[in-house]
Amino acid sequence: MQLTNIELLDFQDIKNKRKTIQDVPKSYIEYIKGIPGNSSCYPRYHIAPKHGLMNDPNGLIEIDGWYHIFYQWFPLGPVHGLKHWYHVKTRDFVHYIDLGIGMEPDSIIDRNGCYSGMMEKTDRNTIYYTGVNEENEQNVCIAEFDKAERIINKEVLIPLDKNVTTRNFRDPYVFEKKGIKYMIVGAELVNGKGAFLLYKKEKGQFIPQGPLNIGEVDLGYMLECPNMITIDGKDILIFSPQGIESPDKYTYRNVFSVAYGIGEMNGEQSSFSCDTYIELDKGFDFYAPQIFQDSKQRTIMLAWLGNSKCVYPSDCEQWAHMMTLPRELSVKNNQLYQWPLEELELLRTVANPIQEDMNIENQCLEIVLEVGEEFLVSLENEMEETVTFIGNSDEYILDRSQMSALYNEDYGNIRYAKREKAEWNIKKEQIRIYIDHSCIEIFAGNGSITFTSRFYLSEFNRIKFRQCQGTLYYLKEIES
Ligand code: FRU
Repeated sequence: MQLTNIELLDFQDIKNKRKTIQDVPKSYIEYIKGIPGNSSCYPRYHIAPKHGLMNDPNGLIEIDGWYHIFYQWFPLGPVHGLKHWYHVKTRDFVHYIDLGIGMEPDSIIDRNGCYSGMMEKTDRNTIYYTGVNEENEQNVCIAEFDKAERIINKEVLIPLDKNVTTRNFRDPYVFEKKGIKYMIVGAELVNGKGAFLLYKKEKGQFIPQGPLNIGEVDLGYMLECPNMITIDGKDILIFSPQGIESPDKYTYRNVFSVAYGIGEMNGEQSSFSCDTYIELDKGFDFYAPQIFQDSKQRTIMLAWLGNSKCVYPSDCEQWAHMMTLPRELSVKNNQLYQWPLEELELLRTVANPIQEDMNIENQCLEIVLEVGEEFLVSLENEMEETVTFIGNSDEYILDRSQMSALYNEDYGNIRYAKREKAEWNIKKEQIRIYIDHSCIEIFAGNGSITFTSRFYLSEFNRIKFRQCQGTLYYLKEIES
């Protein structure tokens, strides 16, 4: 078939969002597969879909030295359609094996989508996920990840209880506390409040314990993608709330954000107590993170580098969104710190000392900086369009108001975060910036603040640095 004869699916027609790969000719897939690779926005060392849309990371686990990464995927276009799980694995986050579709909506329990879930390391490696059935009900389902790395034996584990929740009941996460296994599931209660439903494992069954008591705090109408992990004896609840109000220019500025609390999970009392909830990332595009622990006892996080309800300029190229780089989490000063996983240093090639005005040869970069009270980093092109990141004594500011294509402006073009003096006044502050064509991941304040964002700056070819010292590395592409 001639490429020019291919008519792209119109996703205004809802039926097209329900289509599977089998419903379109092979030539359709071949055609859309060919488009993203030519894009100047498509990332080269971030995981991104070859075509179609990806969102949440799912089922993250390390088995025999292999890190398995699944993600939510709609193959046919850059829209939220019928969700599959896509599967890749890696030993080092640089070389990947592409394993294709990991789970398909091919059973009566998930015919309308295999939504998010996680994997628990057991003898049979158990997957807990959200199956959306033909009636569009979301149920917690279970499956097995077998030795041949296939997801098999899918069945419903906990059906949605209409007396307790609306149809928003999803994203199970299993964890252990004092030798007892629990599951939390994100939910919207029938009274319209967001909650985590807690289940306790007894004699092989998950027994409902009701909503986890998190105190008198309003976190919105739906709490997606909960994670409960323990770092250095502290319990950390990380989740993606919907409908949370922004109190000021610093916090919860995106349509949906990610929050966490550091405190104590008490299984007997079904409660989680913490002093405060904190926003996890200050950029424009960070959502639905999933966290797991590896055999080196590292707590590793990956997130969807994207945001719901936002149309990106590159969506017309038949791909949408990407995954963040893997980050290691730690707790300091009762706060979560994030830092790029050590393995990412394997991506480095040529190193260049930072100069005030640098021409760059390509757009796969890592910038390692040391800064003091004030600094500026500005990505620029020949048209004087810019994306800037600055620090002053009180704030960090990521400004994409002068980039080539503005979009999603209802949510603003600038993001702010408060800056702690302690991060720079005793010794120089460490900053890492990763740039990959149309995304930027900034680890500031020695890892206490991150900004994760997409941006559109056509043909940017230089970077201005003020009051910065450090090194700029060109990075390799990931291999698969
Ligand atoms: C979060 C989310 C999850 C759901 C999945 C569907 O982005 O809405 O709650 O399981 O995406 O793709």
